[in-house]
Amino acid sequence: MLSGYQSNSRMAFMNSEKLEQARKYETEYLKNADESDRPMLHATGTVGWINDPNGFSMYRGEYHLFYQYHPYTTFWGPMHWGHIKTKDFIKWDRLPVAIAPDTDYDEKGCFSGSALELEDGRQLLMYTGVHFDEHQQQCIAFGDGVNYEKYKGNPVIPTDAIPEGHHLIDFRDPKIYQKDNRFYMVAGSRTEDGSGSIVLYESENLKNWNYLGILDRSDNLLGKMWECPDYFELDGKQVIITSPQDMIPLDAKWHSGNQTLVLIGTGDGKANFRRQSAEPIDFGMDFYAPQTLLTKDGRRIMIAWMQSWDTCNVGHENRDWFGQMSLPRELSIVNGKLYQSPVRELEQYYTDSVEKSALYLENEKSESFDLGLVYDMTLNIRPKKEMLRFALHIGEQGPYKTTLTYDAITQSITVDRSLNAIRREIPTHRSFGVESLNKLRIIKDINSMELFVNDGAQTCSMMLAEPDGKLTVSMEVVGAVECDLISHNIQVN
Ligand code: FRU
Repeated sequence: MLSGYQSNSRMAFMNSEKLEQARKYETEYLKNADESDRPMLHATGTVGWINDPNGFSMYRGEYHLFYQYHPYTTFWGPMHWGHIKTKDFIKWDRLPVAIAPDTDYDEKGCFSGSALELEDGRQLLMYTGVHFDEHQQQCIAFGDGVNYEKYKGNPVIPTDAIPEGHHLIDFRDPKIYQKDNRFYMVAGSRTEDGSGSIVLYESENLKNWNYLGILDRSDNLLGKMWECPDYFELDGKQVIITSPQDMIPLDAKWHSGNQTLVLIGTGDGKANFRRQSAEPIDFGMDFYAPQTLLTKDGRRIMIAWMQSWDTCNVGHENRDWFGQMSLPRELSIVNGKLYQSPVRELEQYYTDSVEKSALYLENEKSESFDLGLVYDMTLNIRPKKEMLRFALHIGEQGPYKTTLTYDAITQSITVDRSLNAIRREIPTHRSFGVESLNKLRIIKDINSMELFVNDGAQTCSMMLAEPDGKLTVSMEVVGAVECDLISHNIQVN
């Protein structure tokens, strides 16, 4: 995953002392860095702490990803933007930290935002600058894919342009897009009722922005502040994704705290979004602040921070890095519902495989299968007679055992990571409704698992304790089932 920094700059850049200091810190770290304790498939930051994906976009034929970044410690601090890029979403190259909190309007942090390739060949970054008095204002910077210059007229949406009734310190995370020769931007905002909304702006020149109105809002039903919105068209629908804070579950599909939310509706991609449904994006414990891009071949790809604010303050005592991204996922909408599947580029990294066809199990536990350390496993499940319960165990016992159980009576899946070596009491269980089970796909990396149920109709992502060696996988059934197991080992050098 490591690679040297390259600068292909023909633009002139004056880096601030703060940015130079952060770049020097990274360079020093990289001289002796040993990445053997990093996940194989999941992108991590260079050093220190990372949270949200930012600026996930294409630039000069490659996919760039920036991230919320505090290089100096493994805990959140004044936010910089770290930077990596990829050609295939699996292998990433490191680039130097892109921007630092080095002006009066972003002294408290360069918060989340987005990026865009401009027609003149420059790369635009749009982010939230947190002023020393905590006010959040929208700012821009221009660059060449490695170096960036903040616009002299920042902030482009200053505090006094925030519409009446919107909080000055909860107005953030601009996601920019282009439509009909204009720039549009959605941001998260908190309104009079104290709960979240998504606001839309429009601009002709990136420097002057007009407020177009509220696209959708929580009304205190779907959490408080809505963070990190994205807004795009997919399979004939308009889609908003956002990450609500302080959710109170309305029914079993939601959980308390930080959540991700997909709103599917109709509209013209501008101000008239009409919501038809609201669903969680991922049912796991560690998935937050997703952001998307559109690939050259027209695929909508989503990546998220594979953590949550409710789980992120454990487990980084002995490391000089913390935080990782989810595997990028392809999105589609079928019958009004969001489907997700791992990027197809993953298949290029398959090595050995294990295949067992028509395994018949009746009121028993299967043998244990060795699928390697990092794998992509699919189970086709065909209930026979009556199948009351189907469980999949990853690992045989604590402290490295994770179980997911489908219960046909409650029609739900429960994931249980309580027998993992986690030294704090963070959420260990999640349950979600699944009417009938026919397919489970698991992407297992060294320290995480991403589950795709029934071809990605539902997903569930979580961090797991990292064992010393491989864990075996077994199935256990109450009733009878026939299943096929196909698993591909993955190797990324
Ligand atoms: C979401 C978030 C964003 C904010 C950033 C700060 O995880 O709270 O709203 O911009 O993190 O790091």
